[in-house]
Amino acid sequence: MDQEIFNDAIETPKNLGEMTDADAVGTVGSPDCGDMVRMWLKFREDDSGRRVIDKASFQSFGCQTAIAVASVATEMLRGKTADEARELSATELSAPLGPLPPMKIHCGQMVEGALRAALDGDGPACDTAAPAADQPPADTLAPNLIDHLHPEKRSGNIRIVPLDS
Ligand code: FES
Repeated sequence: MDQEIFNDAIETPKNLGEMTDADAVGTVGSPDCGDMVRMWLKFREDDSGRRVIDKASFQSFGCQTAIAVASVATEMLRGKTADEARELSATELSAPLGPLPPMKIHCGQMVEGALRAALDGDGPACDTAAPAADQPPADTLAPNLIDHLHPEKRSGNIRIVPLDS
């Protein structure tokens, strides 16, 4: 793994945050580690009339590797058609970081799963990155992952207390 690119992606992740005007959104959750990744996609028509991804963004309640992969993957997706994006494997999406350690391969699969969920409305054929079981229809999605995880708190104030590390 390229530590410099990894550290940069963690310290200043690209395309982090919800996209309010997205055309597609997909969420996956891992039953193994309990992490979640959501990805938003916005499309546009390019000069040759192809419908391509204009921008992609993500939110993650997960480990640093998932955040780093999502950061580089969302950069990579710009300008790709849905079919081109669909062909990208977790390994290809995380390629700018270099090979992931074996214990972190599923983190890349989480990002791939969120992308596929956004593109296809279903998850990957991977038992470590299954679509979130309680994923609501797109028109009722909570605005962010915190709301998704805690829908009963949407109308109230949420106090987030960072843990000392
Ligand atoms: Fe689960 Fe990285 S440890 S997404």
